[in-house]
Amino acid sequence: MKFSEEFIDRVREASDLVEIVSQHVNLKKSGSGYQGLCPFHGEKTPSFSVSDVKQVYHCFGCKASGNVFKFVQDYQGLTFPETIEYLAQRAGIPLPVEEEKWQQGSDQREEKKLLYRINHYASEWFHHRLLKLEKSHPVWTYLEKRGLTEQDAKNYKLGWTSANWSDLSESLVRKNAPIDLAEKLGLIKKRNKGSGHFDLFRSRLMFPIYSPTEKCLGFGGRVLGDEHPKYLNSPDSDVFHKGQVFYGLNWSAKHIRSQDLAIVVEGYMDWIALDKAGISNVVATLGTALTEKHARLIRRYTSNVLVLFDGDSAGQSAAERSLPILLRGGLFVKGLFLPEGMDPDDFLKKEGVKALNQKIQTAPDLFSLLVEAEVRKMGSNPSDKTKTIEKMAPLLDAVSNPSLKELYLESLANMLNVDKSVIPVNRGSAGSSFGGSSHFAGGRGRGPSRGSRGPHPSERSRVQESAPAPANSRPENQSFNLKGASRLEIELLNVSLLKSVYLEEVLNSSVLEYMESEGVKKVFEELERLYRQDPSRFDTLPSLLSSKVDPGEAVTLHLTSPFQSLTEESARKLIQDCIKRLHEKFLRSQSRALMNNLKGSQGLDQKNKLEQIMNIQRDRREIKKDQKTKDQSSSIQEPNANE
Ligand code: CTP
Ligand code: MN
Repeated sequence: MKFSEEFIDRVREASDLVEIVSQHVNLKKSGSGYQGLCPFHGEKTPSFSVSDVKQVYHCFGCKASGNVFKFVQDYQGLTFPETIEYLAQRAGIPLPVEEEKWQQGSDQREEKKLLYRINHYASEWFHHRLLKLEKSHPVWTYLEKRGLTEQDAKNYKLGWTSANWSDLSESLVRKNAPIDLAEKLGLIKKRNKGSGHFDLFRSRLMFPIYSPTEKCLGFGGRVLGDEHPKYLNSPDSDVFHKGQVFYGLNWSAKHIRSQDLAIVVEGYMDWIALDKAGISNVVATLGTALTEKHARLIRRYTSNVLVLFDGDSAGQSAAERSLPILLRGGLFVKGLFLPEGMDPDDFLKKEGVKALNQKIQTAPDLFSLLVEAEVRKMGSNPSDKTKTIEKMAPLLDAVSNPSLKELYLESLANMLNVDKSVIPVNRGSAGSSFGGSSHFAGGRGRGPSRGSRGPHPSERSRVQESAPAPANSRPENQSFNLKGASRLEIELLNVSLLKSVYLEEVLNSSVLEYMESEGVKKVFEELERLYRQDPSRFDTLPSLLSSKVDPGEAVTLHLTSPFQSLTEESARKLIQDCIKRLHEKFLRSQSRALMNNLKGSQGLDQKNKLEQIMNIQRDRREIKKDQKTKDQSSSIQEPNANE
């Protein structure tokens, strides 16, 4: 769906950043805004600032920053259109209807909404069935045997379907629900003989499967004994595609992001066992092989994945099949096989969470693990080695990161004890999906507790944004490049965003002529345009700009304490100081250019140039003199910035 700029503005205005952040972060009033522990990196002292007035956030630990859209996009791992849809729904704003496809479009949307509603109804129905049962009922005995309590059943919304053939169907009929849609969802089926419908899930423990935005997509239902099939899953429908969905992602997304690692398991029960044990950055496939869509889904939250499969041959071959898919998705893939015959749930029960955590932390690359297994299996004569190479080379081709590809190639050569030139590998098409970034403050490391794993949240979305842009993210995509901007320019920009009088002061000076960075200049021009259009909207400018500038933190830095604690006097001093210094820098580079030019010129031309240079030098001296008589310490230093 393509949203108009007006619609996007409406959604932005109706969505309060503080309220939305507060759902996930404990915010405390601090100065002119709020502070809390940053949800984008692990930390113990709060460095995450949110401004209710400006509707932007900034973390001086990990540099995450942006407006309400960016927050929802990064925190919930939604695309831009999904974010708009989510926030619009939250604010009760009806989604616009696409003109040309009105009939069909609206029907489809209505139908999908109904499908979700029916699934939601069914999940509540199943859940209440379970909670109503006596604790002596076999399903409770079963849950207890598997170590699950009533609270767990509530947390994961587990349900129960009775042996009765028409429990749910009758209830749906009573509620006047669209029966044909319940059929489409695989919940009920028309009777062959007689009239009416019967339930498809009977005598099963029910696991509802949710989307990242908590819409109920479908169900898995397990029998309590050894009957077949062990699990019955909802069939694929307009709202459910097994190959694109993970069980548990709605609960684990934030943990995957904050731990910068997604652990993939194969079963519902394994997911729950891990989550209960405190390992919450986990997703489970629904008994199908991993797909490219799965890889892309993970990539929204992290670039690191650990495949934790059963220690049997089925688990091994599932891991083998998943590796090229995950590698092609631009992920770094680790692997962990449990001892033969154990799944993660068994392992936890037997060895405990400490042992599992230990294994997770030291898990090797899945590539190396598979090569090792292969080498162990095969002999060491040339034909065996050739067969191993033939099996492993396609995996190398799947690696999109060129350095990683090279290192894998080397380790394969080493393990086989061959020269790497005998391994055929396609070096050409390797396209890294990781964007580098230069921070404007120059040479600063990442946040203190953030390792080198994976891209920073803001980089991540930048990577998404620089991919072939979907038409619907248009207004948010227009971008000002501030990567090469100097600290002075960024400081000036951020002071200007504090108060409208400061912005006016800057706009009324001639500093725009002295700007080095084309990007900063353009941002000021855009600020001027928006501000002149409607001065009363001054406070909304950072939020409007934050999704258009790169890095976004260049317009949210003003939330940090050095800016927040500026008095009016020191702010004005800082502005004048920045302007002077930028002027001085500008003159310096001008005179340097003229000097270079001077060599090639003669006669009158040379005389003119010399004169110009002398004038410039005089101006520079004057600025410097002026500067010396004033206090020079007005430049802002960011906390833990090491210049
Ligand atoms: N599965 C399925 N149909 C089956 C068996 C398995 O759809 N007949 C899917 C389910 O999504 C299941 C996953 O494959 O969660 C992994 O299977 P398994 O390891 O047997 O599942 P667990 O969740 O570990 O189940 P349990 O421990 O209860 O046996
Ligand atoms: Mn199991």
